[in-house]
Amino acid sequence: MGRLSLLVSLLSLTDTVFGKWLGETKTVGGKKYQCKCYSDNECFPTPADWAALNKTVGGTLKVTLPPGAPCHDSVGNVSTYNAAACADVQANWVNEQWLTDHPIANLWPLYTNNTCLPTTNPNTPCTRGFYGLYVVQATKKEHIKAGVDFARKRNLRLIIRNTGHDFMGRSTGYESLIINTHTFKDVKFLKKYAGPGNWTGSAATVGAGVQGRELYRQAFAQDPKVVIVGGECPTVGWAGGYIQGGGHGPLTSIYGMGADNVLSFDAITAKGEYVTANAEENPDLFWALKGGGPSTFAVVTSITVKTFPEVAVAGTIVNINSTHTNDTKVFNEGFKIFHNLANHYVKHGMFVYFELSVGRLHIAPFVGPRMDEAKVNEVLKPLFDQLDAAKIPYDKYTRAFPTFFQFYIDMFEDEQPNQNSVVGGRLFTQKDIAENGDKVADALLMASQPTPDIFGFSVGHIVDPGYGVPVADNAIHPKWRNSSSFVITNVIMNGDESWAVKKDRESVQTNIVGKALREAGPDGATYVNEGDLYEPNWQESYWGSKYPQLLKLRKKWDPEGVFYTQTTPGTEDWEVLDYGAKLCKKV
Ligand SMILES: Cc1cc2nc3c(=O)[nH]c(=O)nc-3n(C[C@H](O)[C@H](O)[C@H](O)COP(=O)(O)OP(=O)(O)OC[C@H]3O[C@@H](n4cnc5c(N)ncnc54)[C@H](O)[C@@H]3O)c2cc1C
Ligand SMILES: *[C@@H]1O[C@H](CO)[C@@H](O)[C@H](O)[C@H]1NC(C)=O
Ligand SMILES: *[C@@H]1O[C@H](CO)[C@@H](O)[C@H](O)[C@H]1NC(C)=O
Ligand SMILES: *[C@@H]1O[C@H](CO)[C@@H](O)[C@H](O)[C@H]1NC(C)=O
Ligand SMILES: *[C@@H]1O[C@H](CO)[C@@H](O)[C@H](O)[C@H]1NC(C)=O
Ligand SMILES: *[C@@H]1O[C@H](CO)[C@@H](O)[C@H](O)[C@H]1NC(C)=O
Ligand SMILES: *[C@@H]1O[C@H](CO)[C@@H](O)[C@H](O)[C@H]1NC(C)=O
Ligand SMILES: *[C@@H]1O[C@H](CO)[C@@H](O)[C@H](O)[C@H]1NC(C)=O
Repeated sequence: MGRLSLLVSLLSLTDTVFGKWLGETKTVGGKKYQCKCYSDNECFPTPADWAALNKTVGGTLKVTLPPGAPCHDSVGNVSTYNAAACADVQANWVNEQWLTDHPIANLWPLYTNNTCLPTTNPNTPCTRGFYGLYVVQATKKEHIKAGVDFARKRNLRLIIRNTGHDFMGRSTGYESLIINTHTFKDVKFLKKYAGPGNWTGSAATVGAGVQGRELYRQAFAQDPKVVIVGGECPTVGWAGGYIQGGGHGPLTSIYGMGADNVLSFDAITAKGEYVTANAEENPDLFWALKGGGPSTFAVVTSITVKTFPEVAVAGTIVNINSTHTNDTKVFNEGFKIFHNLANHYVKHGMFVYFELSVGRLHIAPFVGPRMDEAKVNEVLKPLFDQLDAAKIPYDKYTRAFPTFFQFYIDMFEDEQPNQNSVVGGRLFTQKDIAENGDKVADALLMASQPTPDIFGFSVGHIVDPGYGVPVADNAIHPKWRNSSSFVITNVIMNGDESWAVKKDRESVQTNIVGKALREAGPDGATYVNEGDLYEPNWQESYWGSKYPQLLKLRKKWDPEGVFYTQTTPGTEDWEVLDYGAKLCKKV
């Protein structure tokens, strides 16, 4: 009896190790895999198990419904059609805030398998595709912990979903248990930080669910007004994927990357422990959470970050498109002139956001922190002189603002979600631009149309985090220091292509576009939040010399693989099999 009860308690202590909750084994390409538990496996939780979890999370557990569900008769055994709700879906399908407020929606639907789209025909089947199966709409830290514990003990695919912004499908997963952090909206501003580390200036503690523009707005409402380094997008989740991937933004040239400014994290580990990570407590986790990859080391519940005094900002918007010329040679020459000056812009402390597609260059805007109109014009003079000398037609518009916030609201534009593309990209260093500027520009122009029948679209950020700022010690790829141009490339899709075509487009991104970018920028790197899921040598490419330490820390903080997103530290043995469905580990 004694031995039996010892065995029973051992089993419950180390469930997965002893095989109590193991999913199926598969052999693919001669390799053996052990999968997480899915609904067609005996190890999957029973309705009673889910009901017990629901009780622990205060009734916040829901069976998921894809955002398009109200336009369809049913999802599985749940009736979903609702004309009014369907009209609401149709009206908001490209509304970023509506999508981020939804419990499980993704802004880039390719990674949901483009399932259950809005339709006027309710008979069209709606499946969950790669969406999760259950979602905890957490309102307390305890709910997050309960979700992590349940996923770990029951060997389920776990997804942390904040805004659903991710370009790379990292906030969705087939039949997963999703933990939604969107309600964690608290922000507290401090005039003087007195915690660990050497910072004694102002700071803010920001909840996991706070989004870009609402954070900027609250910082602007302080007296005196302050700024925080964040992204350009209004709805991106600041304390979620953004910081954990590193985080660039319009103020990066003067204040560094988002993660450079973090003073402390509050988080829940894969083992379900509440931890604080800063210069004194858990300094290794502190280091890793600053750029080491989203959903990799812990679930962050809040972040304390440096705030800075507001700054005057001037900006310029420049266009070259079919209004100005339809001559490809002229257009390409114009783009080259603009992009070859990347080192010049960053050496003057500028950040530049631009969009490039066939025959269309939209630079909106050039960001000149601590500049007035005259200063921006002076910095940009070489650009306009060269365009004029080469007889390239363009238009421009310049304006100065007393504060960053006013500038940001006026001169940055919102993006449109629910578009389909396969994403990739590259960070070019100042060395790359100085030595290979034309080749880099040619590669980017090629990315606009990599093959005669495939179109591309690129979003560029000319930025050098650390212009005049001491380099912070964290997990961000060292190549970000002295960077010059970081460009996201998109291979455009309709979304309704077959699996084979989707794979082919991924290959175009990696092997045609990506290859040209790597060859043009051999000194460069890639950015984990805005990169290629199939990037060759992704460990080196995303983290460089920081990778070995990140791998070590992943094994320390998440030894069982509770968290997973593709191309993050320590995921080498994991693979999503069955056409993007089941997450399995090589054994
Ligand atoms: C339109 C657009 C504009 C963008 N602009 C910028 C920009 O200016 N600068 C920049 O650096 N990046 C930018 N990004 C990229 C952005 O940083 C990433 O998409 C980021 O992962 C989004 O994080 P999220 O939490 O909002 O999104 P989600 O999709 O909800 O989550 C993204 C990843 O983070 C993980 N995650 C979320 N919350 C947590 C948490 N609390 N703890 C642990 N893991 C978590 C998720 O599991 C997932 O892997 C942009 C993206 C888009 C779509
Ligand atoms: C969880 O409990 C709430 C409140 O009782 C209920 O509305 C919800 O449907 C339950 N979720 C599941 C998955 O049963
Ligand atoms: C409907 O499906 C869910 C999820 O598979 C299951 O938990 C539930 O018991 C089913 N309900 C009915 C009435 O069949
Ligand atoms: C994903 O979409 C493909 C078609 O591209 C389909 O064959 C497959 O069944 C889908 N998988 C899931 C889980 O929805
Ligand atoms: C704080 O400053 C001291 C003295 O300059 C330095 O030794 C220490 O490493 C700093 N601590 C941190 C966390 O930066
Ligand atoms: C081209 O630039 C003009 C401004 O000169 C702008 O009004 C127009 O919308 C742009 N066209 C495209 C396709 O972006
Ligand atoms: C370019 O072509 C478009 C479409 O034919 C036309 O509307 C536009 O006027 C042309 N632009 C120039 C500068 O000729
Ligand atoms: C950046 O370049 C400067 C000189 O241009 C050099 O002194 C510095 O070490 C470089 N920084 C990094 C991180 O490579």
